[in-house]
Amino acid sequence: MKIYPKFTGAELEKLGLTGNMPKHVAIIMDGNGRWAKARHMPRSFGHRAGMEALQEIVRSSHSIGIEVLTVYAFSTENWRRPESEINALFSLLVEYFYKEIDELDANNVKIHVLGDLSRFPAKLRELMETAIDRTALNSGLNFAIALNYGSRDEIVRAARAIVQANLTPDDITEGIFSEYLYTNSISVPDPDLIIRTAGEQRLSNFLLWQAAYSEFVFTNTTFPDFTPEAYYECIKEFMRRTRRFGKVLPN
Ligand code: FPP
Repeated sequence: MKIYPKFTGAELEKLGLTGNMPKHVAIIMDGNGRWAKARHMPRSFGHRAGMEALQEIVRSSHSIGIEVLTVYAFSTENWRRPESEINALFSLLVEYFYKEIDELDANNVKIHVLGDLSRFPAKLRELMETAIDRTALNSGLNFAIALNYGSRDEIVRAARAIVQANLTPDDITEGIFSEYLYTNSISVPDPDLIIRTAGEQRLSNFLLWQAAYSEFVFTNTTFPDFTPEAYYECIKEFMRRTRRFGKVLPN
């Protein structure tokens, strides 16, 4: 089992990571299929390679001091994929939660799952619930996995829950609305940086509400090839940008 190092200021400087470190990074992990196709391998092989890449990204997020890492692992639209691919992804998730939980827990990582889990196989649900409960009191990196997640679905569910709670129109503020979103369970700031791998430049129904002021970095690297070094390059790009939140900055 690996205990993740925490980089010192000097180590961060050596990596070029000086500046405003994002607190919350979200990643759309795309390109597993293309990575596999380029190697004449089945798509599930690409997802496995993606899972391995993800573990390195979790480790490096801890090392550089990211507070929240959110990843898009399965969207509400992914049910349209062939059953064999969906099943392979589920098996991989079972393996992930089964194999990695000890290491994640030992490194003080707190696991969250965003999305409607009711459609998942019971075994996977159980493993996820155990992982969430076991790490609930951890205070290190918050690691949120979006599964059967879709932003429009999240917003519609929030609206329904607000109606069911009998809130009056005046009660409904942006803050109150946010409390009804899946991300409320993480109780952390919105993503500062959203990275999408594999060249596509769209959000694909990911964190539409939460992305209002996020910076976007798109990279052509497919997710299985997304090494910690490639990740640090995206963070450096974020650090070069100036975020104004609609205000004018003083000269
Ligand atoms: C998108 O690539 C990726 C996914 C739909 C699944 C992401 C899953 C993982 C990285 C593996 C396991 C995750 C966890 C949390 C352990 P794609 O298949 O759409 O690639 P393509 O666009 O090249 O076809």
